[in-house]
This record gives sequence, C-alpha cells and structure tokens, in this order.
Amino acid sequence: MSYKTILFEVEGSIATLTFNRPEKLNALNAEMFAEIREVLDKVASDPQLRVLILTGQGRAFIAGADVRAFLDLDPLSARRFVEVAHELAFQMEGLEIPVIAAVNGFALGGGCEMAMACDIIYASEEARFGQPEINLGIIPGFGGTQRLARLVGKIAAKEMCLTGRIIDAQEAKNMGLVARVFPGAALMEETLKMARSLAEKSRGALKTLKRVMDQGLEVDLRTGCTLEMDGFALCFASPDAREGATAFLEKRPPRFGS
Ligand code: COA
Repeated sequence: MSYKTILFEVEGSIATLTFNRPEKLNALNAEMFAEIREVLDKVASDPQLRVLILTGQGRAFIAGADVRAFLDLDPLSARRFVEVAHELAFQMEGLEIPVIAAVNGFALGGGCEMAMACDIIYASEEARFGQPEINLGIIPGFGGTQRLARLVGKIAAKEMCLTGRIIDAQEAKNMGLVARVFPGAALMEETLKMARSLAEKSRGALKTLKRVMDQGLEVDLRTGCTLEMDGFALCFASPDAREGATAFLEKRPPRFGS
C-alpha cells in the first residue's frame, strides 16, 4: 500500500511510519491525518507487530500543522480539525505496543504534540522542539497545552507555550521531554536497536505497563497504585511471567510467547 504524505515500512516485528512532505517540512494536513490514521488502524490490528517508530523525511519531524489550512478555518471547522488531531493522539497512546518518536529535526506545534503522544522520544542533535502557535495568534490544539505540562511541569510548559520559544535537543532532554539524544547519523540505528530490544520483551507485559503508567498519571496516587497492583497480578495470567523467572534462574535469555 502506498501513501502520498507518509511512508510505511515493516521489517520483522518493527513498523516505521515516516512523515513524508519534506518540501513543506512535513507540515500536517488533512490528507496526512487520514493516512496516519489508516496506518494506526493497520498497526492496531496486526498482532505480529511489536514496536512502532515515527520519524520524518528530510530536516523536519513535523514543523506543525499546515498553516495554509488555517486561512479557511472558522470556529466550527477549527474545532473539527483539532478533534481529528486529538483522536489520532489518543489512538496512538492506546496502541498496545510501544511507540518511539525518533525526532530528526523540527518538531514544532503539532510535531511536538505528535511526539508527546508517543511512549519514548529520542532526538538527534539537530532536533528542535517548540509550541510556536502563540506567534500565529492561536494556541496549541493537538494536546500541547495539556501533555507538555504533564511531561515537564507547569512552569517549563507555560514558558514554552507563552513565549513560543524553540528549544534544542539538549534542553529538551534536560527538561525531561526527550529520553536520549544521538548524533544525527546514529539516530535511526540507535532507535532500531532499542526497538529490537523492546520486540524481545513480553508483548502482554509491555501493553499492561503502558496502560498502567498512562492511566496512573491521570489519577491520585492510591488509585494509580491500585492500577499497578491489578496490572502486576494480570501479568501472572500469562506464561510469560513464569518464563521470565525461569529463564533468569536458568541463566538464559527468556523466550516470551505473547
Ligand atoms: N505549515 C505550512 N508550511 C510550512 C510549515 C507549516 N507549519 N512549516 C514550514 N512550511 C513550509 C514553508 O512555508 C516553506 O515552504 P515554501 O518553500 O513553499 O515557502 C518550506 O516549508 C520550508 O520552510 P522554511 O520556512 O523556508 O524553512 P526555514 O528553515 O527557513 O524555517 C521553520 C524552518 C520550521 C523555523 C519555519 O518553517 C517555521 O517557523 N515553520 C512554522 C512553524 C510553526 O509555526 N508551526 C506551528 C504551526 S501551528
């Protein structure tokens, strides 16, 4: 299946979605939203897949929503536009498998927001992050006002959103937005290495871990710890828990079935 605005490749159990409008720095338009959604549906229904990687072609991850489309928006169509974007972010967060953003360049506005809906963010030294919507006379509309504050705290997030300041990969790492920074040439290789390592782990345990951590951050500590206890217990419904312990005791790598 070929797409116009993205590339989608599967190698073994690892899928890679590449944003592919490099001449427009991969700015998000309606067609791109539709194609990403199609790919996420495909990934969600393929039990062979174990990791999804998002990255961008050229010098951007995504430089934001396509500003040209804003010229035609009125309040109702603007609301529909961001509803589609939010659905996509929740769809991605809801995937059972880990999603890694390999941020290769500009991740601005919707690009920063897309990355924040992933489970892990890796960045190249050239990556730049920001929520510059305020400079266009609007506010972030793809989760930026909410996810950024949850990830890095209210003060740092407000400073970024209010000023529209663009930060480099190292600053993003220092504030906890990015997990690791790699030289540009090494980004995909290092991301694939991590993806292969994740693909060896128990799919069921990864799924439970994602759910417990994502839902746990939205509730009070006691409720979150209850989610953890239930998730921990659920792991023992799978043979993977016994295999993990047995492999450790037999000093061999585990062979997880799920
Ligand atoms: N929407 C539409 N087009 C965009 C875009 C966006 N968000 N970001 C970049 N582009 C286009 C530019 O218009 C340009 O197209 P053109 O060659 O037809 O003129 C092309 O991508 C290259 O961008 P350019 O601005 O020439 O590159 P640069 O290196 O000088 O600057 C940025 C890079 C990222 C700093 C700059 O493009 C930018 O500020 N983009 C908008 C970021 C933004 O506000 N995002 C939030 C939107 S809600």
